Amino acid sequence: MTHTETGIMNEVDSLLQCLRQQTRQDHHELDHHPLLQRLLAPGLDRDSYAGILHAMYQPQWYMEASVEAGCQQLGLDPGRLSDARSPLLARDLAALGWPVPSSSDEAHLLTASSPGMFIGQRYVVEGARKGSIIVARQLRQTLGSAAPMSYFSHADPEPNWREFTRQLESLLPTIDRNAAITGARDMFHAFQCRLM
Ligand code: HEM
Repeated sequence: MTHTETGIMNEVDSLLQCLRQQTRQDHHELDHHPLLQRLLAPGLDRDSYAGILHAMYQPQWYMEASVEAGCQQLGLDPGRLSDARSPLLARDLAALGWPVPSSSDEAHLLTASSPGMFIGQRYVVEGARKGSIIVARQLRQTLGSAAPMSYFSHADPEPNWREFTRQLESLLPTIDRNAAITGARDMFHAFQCRLM
């Protein structure tokens, strides 16, 4: 690796570390949300699981639709975005015999107006995959591995995180750190507000 390449990697790591620190409290509040705590509880049954998935549909859809809108607004390559996970969530709901909530009542998406904001938002979308692996492991214990859980178990954090950091690297010169923090925190709040 050349000095320049090492310098870029250090900058990528430093920005990711900053986002992790600045959103630690937001993550703590979210993963302590009563609904998400119930997901991890040993007594979870299939119907409660379906109810929680139903509540998670709108926030997940909203995050993904916002990132897609920002990508378009900024003229970024849509091919670099990871596959959305809300269709997996819809599939799990259908397999559990539950309806998929309508997303048409969302008038305003969080459309990023700068690359920094976009990267901060995408950090939350891709980071959420990491926790899903832990949730999937717990669900296999409580509900058994035959329960529909593709949203959690097909989260594929590693390749998607790699792709995200490559995009971050390519946008690095245009990223304002404060905009990235704002983008990430707003996305956490948007998810939490919609989790009912
Ligand atoms: C019960 C639900 C959740 C649990 C137990 C959980 C747990 C975790 C854990 C253990 C990590 C660290 C994984 C690692 O470093 O490999 C993580 C990372 C992360 N999670 Fe969650 N999570 C949950 C829900 C969410 C949700 C709903 C979101 C976003 C909407 C989210 C956003 C993130 C982000 C952005 C990171 C990346 C942190 C980083 O590497 O910088 N999580 N989560």
